[in-house]
Amino acid sequence: MNNGAASETDLAIGDTQSADQASAQKIEFLGRVIAVRGSQASVGLPAAAPDAPEERRVTVGKFLGIAAGKRLLVGVITDVCLRTEPALPDHDHVAAAQLDLIGEIRSGEARTAHFQRGVTTYPAIGDPVVSIGSRELRLIFQNSSSRMIDVGKLQQDNAIAARVDVDEMLSKHFAVLGTTGVGKSSAITLLLHQMLQARPDLRVLLLDVHNEYGRCFGERAQILDPNNVKLPFWLFNFDEIVDVFFGGRPSLEEEVNFLSEVIPLAKASYAQQIGSAGRLALKGSEQANARYTLDVPVPYRIADLLALLDTRMGKLENRASRMVYHKLITRIETVCNDPRYAFMFENANVGGDTMVEILATLFRLPPNGKPITIMQLAGFPSEVVDALVSVTCRMAFDLGLWSDGDNPLLVVCEEAHRYMAADHSVGFAPTRRAISRIAKEGRKYRVFLGLVTQRPAELDPTILSQCSTLFAMRMTNDRDQALLRSAVADTAANLLAFLPSLGTGEAFAFGEGVALPTRLKFRQLPAQLLPRSDTMGGDQGDANAAIDNHSLAAVIDRWRGRTTKPRTAPDKPAEEAAAAMVPPSPSLQPTQGLDPNRFRLLKRPLEDQSAKAGLEMQTAEPPLR
Ligand SMILES: Nc1ncnc2c1ncn2[C@@H]1O[C@H](COP(=O)(O)OP(=O)(O)O)[C@@H](O)[C@H]1O
Ligand SMILES: [Mg+2]
Repeated sequence: MNNGAASETDLAIGDTQSADQASAQKIEFLGRVIAVRGSQASVGLPAAAPDAPEERRVTVGKFLGIAAGKRLLVGVITDVCLRTEPALPDHDHVAAAQLDLIGEIRSGEARTAHFQRGVTTYPAIGDPVVSIGSRELRLIFQNSSSRMIDVGKLQQDNAIAARVDVDEMLSKHFAVLGTTGVGKSSAITLLLHQMLQARPDLRVLLLDVHNEYGRCFGERAQILDPNNVKLPFWLFNFDEIVDVFFGGRPSLEEEVNFLSEVIPLAKASYAQQIGSAGRLALKGSEQANARYTLDVPVPYRIADLLALLDTRMGKLENRASRMVYHKLITRIETVCNDPRYAFMFENANVGGDTMVEILATLFRLPPNGKPITIMQLAGFPSEVVDALVSVTCRMAFDLGLWSDGDNPLLVVCEEAHRYMAADHSVGFAPTRRAISRIAKEGRKYRVFLGLVTQRPAELDPTILSQCSTLFAMRMTNDRDQALLRSAVADTAANLLAFLPSLGTGEAFAFGEGVALPTRLKFRQLPAQLLPRSDTMGGDQGDANAAIDNHSLAAVIDRWRGRTTKPRTAPDKPAEEAAAAMVPPSPSLQPTQGLDPNRFRLLKRPLEDQSAKAGLEMQTAEPPLR
């Protein structure tokens, strides 16, 4: 931000300073242990002199050491206060600090000193308390035995790099939590840059809910939006396609039942047509025992589906049942003809098994220098985003499963509380299932999860508990803090009291990925790599340019779904495509027309009145017998 000219390579791990620089530093004696309780120790301290150097200023969040025999127990201060009970004789320890013990440094010989988490011996009354200097911090955070990435600086000592164990962090999932604007997306950008550097085999699928990561990875990312992504409808499983056809609204049982009967038949029918070299074998398919289950991702054609529904409708005597079929057919046609859905229904009637190409593009196999896929979800029709997230996460997992984890993949999900809400009645069940599957079993198949949310309290706690490395950024809401407290280990929980006071770009890192629960400041990202929403235009400087007529027209175009590629399907008349650009304003709903075809022109917002539409259709229907 302060460094506009910096390039991407600036993010390379740069400061492996010689650890010995500081080894000369003397450990400062500060006070003594006065009480021990479980993994907590109270230490008596003298009051800090106003001119005391930084290391001697004892305050919350700092690390202190207790020399217990050959070990140096490391703890973090959670509380300091004036002592009321009498001090130990011959010490003027007027203050007391509560220390949560979190690890120990085994000194041994100078060269073999190392840090480990957890304590094996407990302190005794009177043990000397010392400050933790740069040498110890280095020892703690510069574990050289595993792949570490450098994400910023420790708050306690700016000279020391905050390092995260990339393998631990990835394989057991991670989460970035914090109020909006505290730097979560920037942190994700930074983490991904560093992770990809440390793990060249890794590929990333970034579900970009606000279209803000477009510029963050330069040439290393492939950006997918409705104009260039192809996710044919047959990749969607049954629940997902029902959600698409019903526009994210509750589905109607009868229609769903009919659909569940014909989809396997359409699949079989398509397979048969391919098998019999193009000869039409629709009749046979009705009897063809559906080896194709509802959910298996094999191609079929919408035309076959509609034909099957039409045939079945034709056989019916009962007017009410015919209406159900009719509505279902109209519904499917409406969605297929909506230009905003072109990414799903392009070539819907042509067929062709494109699964290999689709998976190869989506999941970067091979990466071809672009290991990241950024899925810009904001450009998709909002009612289909849930199904889209579901289908991509499900495929990410299944690909890992069926390829035995040969291709490590990280799925990063922004606004995770939308997809995995604590309240199970919120959100789309298949999306929740797909993501929780990655959280629970992804590890085995090397499919990893990175979650980002501004509302931890609204996130399903079981998902959060699967994330073993947490970056908690500023958070003021009590419920969010309470939830986090239940998700982290006891020793770390006390640190959460600091959360409301964190600055932008600062975080508490907890869990397997970090040596100690610690407060850190993420590295500064150069301005041109900062995540920023595309729709926000450029810098404040172009505010005028952003509202000129030209870009306003572009905004309206997008609004109307015109910039999505026009459908090229041969069955779509040109005037219909033009008519489909009618703005979806409820006030413009055609009320006069009784032509059933008009429903092809409708877009989602109009279907708010679907009940009414259904009614109209019913009255408009010519007598059936
Ligand atoms: N690591 C960082 N480097 C530079 N600027 C940052 C960093 N973290 C946060 N910022 C500043 O804070 C702003 C908000 O950050 P952002 O990542 O978009 O927050 P969030 O995703 O939590 O809403 C950024 O636009 C940037 O100005
Ligand atoms: Mg953000």
